[in-house]
Amino acid sequence: ASTLDQLAKAKGRYFGSATDNSELSNSAYTAILGGGEFGATTPGNSMKWDTTEPSRGSFNFSGGDQIVSFAKSHNMIVRGHNLVWHQQLPNWVSSLPSNQVQAAMENHITTEVTHYKGQLYAWDVVNEPFNEDGTFRTDAFTNAMGNGYIADALRTAHAADPDAKLYLNDYNIEGLGAKSDGMYNLVKSLKQQGVPIDGVGFEGHLAIQYGYPTNMQQNMQRFADLGVDVAVTELDVRMQLPADTSKVSTQAQYYTDAVKACLAVTRCVGITIWDYTDKYSWIPGTFSGEGSALPWDENLNKKPQIYGAISTALGGT
Ligand code: G3I
Repeated sequence: ASTLDQLAKAKGRYFGSATDNSELSNSAYTAILGGGEFGATTPGNSMKWDTTEPSRGSFNFSGGDQIVSFAKSHNMIVRGHNLVWHQQLPNWVSSLPSNQVQAAMENHITTEVTHYKGQLYAWDVVNEPFNEDGTFRTDAFTNAMGNGYIADALRTAHAADPDAKLYLNDYNIEGLGAKSDGMYNLVKSLKQQGVPIDGVGFEGHLAIQYGYPTNMQQNMQRFADLGVDVAVTELDVRMQLPADTSKVSTQAQYYTDAVKACLAVTRCVGITIWDYTDKYSWIPGTFSGEGSALPWDENLNKKPQIYGAISTALGGT
């Protein structure tokens, strides 16, 4: 049988999984991660600002380097995640006088993007800039620079690595709605100004109790029509535990629909799940009582119904 990535490749896409450094010491885990199911990976934490520049001007790329090296030796591309985000932002940045934030941001971007120049497929340059109502989040960056920090971040990243695809990435923008309208208007305006933006990442942290996003395909298509790539960057489908047959069949349908939405949009370049096994999912640590969100269980066994749904949606038989 074909792997998920082989099926995706046959449709001109990649199929990826996030990972994290501590997981790479589990050989049963790495055998699957690097065993052909996944053609792309995203470091879950180790390229974020709190890890890469924990104090001003002092950089640490060891975790990210380890994942890039694993990816290279297993023929996987890497999505860099992320350069500018209000979370996992070291305190030294949020406590800077606002007239120093721009220089700190530009230096962080230039140094990190230069370090990885030529090695990454894409960068999530700005992560999660929107509130649920589609307005911009207030954070250290907007306080210092207004919403113009986004264009500045993109230009700075482009100068450091003109070949990496530069993305804006957010959650709850998968369907039509106020938040995705906010992102849509931003991307439209950036394109009109000639700011280097190549793509929009739709995280895809879905939950069966909240319903499937409204018109995901149509929503991704309207972004593609602005002249950018789109990707599903952090897909998982959680539920309230315990799982039962009805919840699992709903979950299988969500995976099916999300994969099909991407395949239906020519500019949707690929799908990444936010790790592949429940053993290392972020969900239980954040949403108490929820989980079972991924296609491999806690014992690294494929869940036939979920894996099968993804495989079938990708065109497998
Ligand atoms: O490394 C420390 C460890 O030393 C310590 O003992 C342990 C105790 O809590 O914490 C460890 O750090 C944790 C880190 O993951 C590494 O495992 C942090 O507490 C924990 O908050 C952090 O969570 C990450 C989360 O982002 C932070 O916001 C998740 O792993 C990561 O999957 C998640 O990913 C985000 C994306 O970046 C953006 N989109 C949403 C997505 C899910 O929240």
